[in-house]
Amino acid sequence: MKTRFNFPTRILFGEGVIEDMPPHLSAMGVKRPLVVTDRGLMTTDIPEKLVNLLRSSGFEPATFYKIDPNPNDQQVEAGTETFRNHEADGLVAIGGGSPLDAAKAIQIRINHPDPLEEYDDLKGGDARILGELPPLVAIPTTAGTGSEVSRSAVITVAAAGRKVVLFSPRLMPALAVCDPLLTYELPPRLTAETGMDALSHNIEAFMATGYHPLADGIALRAVSMIVRALPRAVKQGDDADARRDMLMASTMGAVAFQKGLGVVHSLAHPLSTVSGVSHGLANSILLPVAVEFNGEAEAERAAELAHALEAQSPTAAAAAESIRQLARGIGLPLRLSQAGVKEEHLPQLVAKALEDGCHLSNPRACDDPETMEQLYRGAW
Ligand SMILES: [Fe+2]
Repeated sequence: MKTRFNFPTRILFGEGVIEDMPPHLSAMGVKRPLVVTDRGLMTTDIPEKLVNLLRSSGFEPATFYKIDPNPNDQQVEAGTETFRNHEADGLVAIGGGSPLDAAKAIQIRINHPDPLEEYDDLKGGDARILGELPPLVAIPTTAGTGSEVSRSAVITVAAAGRKVVLFSPRLMPALAVCDPLLTYELPPRLTAETGMDALSHNIEAFMATGYHPLADGIALRAVSMIVRALPRAVKQGDDADARRDMLMASTMGAVAFQKGLGVVHSLAHPLSTVSGVSHGLANSILLPVAVEFNGEAEAERAAELAHALEAQSPTAAAAAESIRQLARGIGLPLRLSQAGVKEEHLPQLVAKALEDGCHLSNPRACDDPETMEQLYRGAW
């Protein structure tokens, strides 16, 4: 057996740590950063504070904020143009997964001429991501995607009608700045949905095929942290311990999923593009169904997972029930029908789930339409 392990991202972590970021940016040779954020965060004072911090530290920043949830290739093109017009020499992305992922796609587009779908991981696009990319500092304001330490970005490509996964070690941010204070204002529903995304990353990484005990250990520990911290973070936004543990567990999830993800993410991606369900909610609803499905092939792993989830017994069924209890407790619906998914979406959902690469590392084979449909129906 041969494998390769990689945990290289530098992470600044802790309350107020954003203030420590400017010297790190200078050390990367950046003088004119493009701050990438989204419309939602622009309604808070967080981007303005960041820009003021950069200005007072001697940088000449510009801001690009025209990013929506589930960012698309047109927004990436607009951001790339802003980068060029500003003659920027680096990126500082702040927000949830959307601006962080969009910034990674902008990094590629700066010196890669082809349309984004040509760099789709499913087509072996990682081999085409070459050369020097502008440095990226990633500052999460949600505890969910872990994009600040991940080597992937998910962009909806209009022409392809689906989400394209960009994946390359070159996309790992040069620096992740994880400041829990930035997550305190996140509303309860967003805290709940993004937190379930983080849980999905850790559970899928733990259950994924492949030999990676480092990732497994990180993932299991993060599951334990989320089970305890997420209900508290949803209930009380300024619970310092809960916000700290959620941000850390979300970062841990993305470190762990270098091992791979699984069928939950393949089923969830089309639910966003076809049915408009948020990524975190789609994962939350599908996760217990997939844990039961995978538990039949991986009973031992399911037992370890059940333990981390503080389940009643060491079984996949009990693990799934713990996940449902957690979701119920933080006010999330448990069925796709309650999330507005229509029966007539099913054929399209199944076709797109099969096209998605995440299920390739699922521990139990699911690459046929019948199984994908059965999994969706299990969450109906
Ligand atoms: Fe995710």
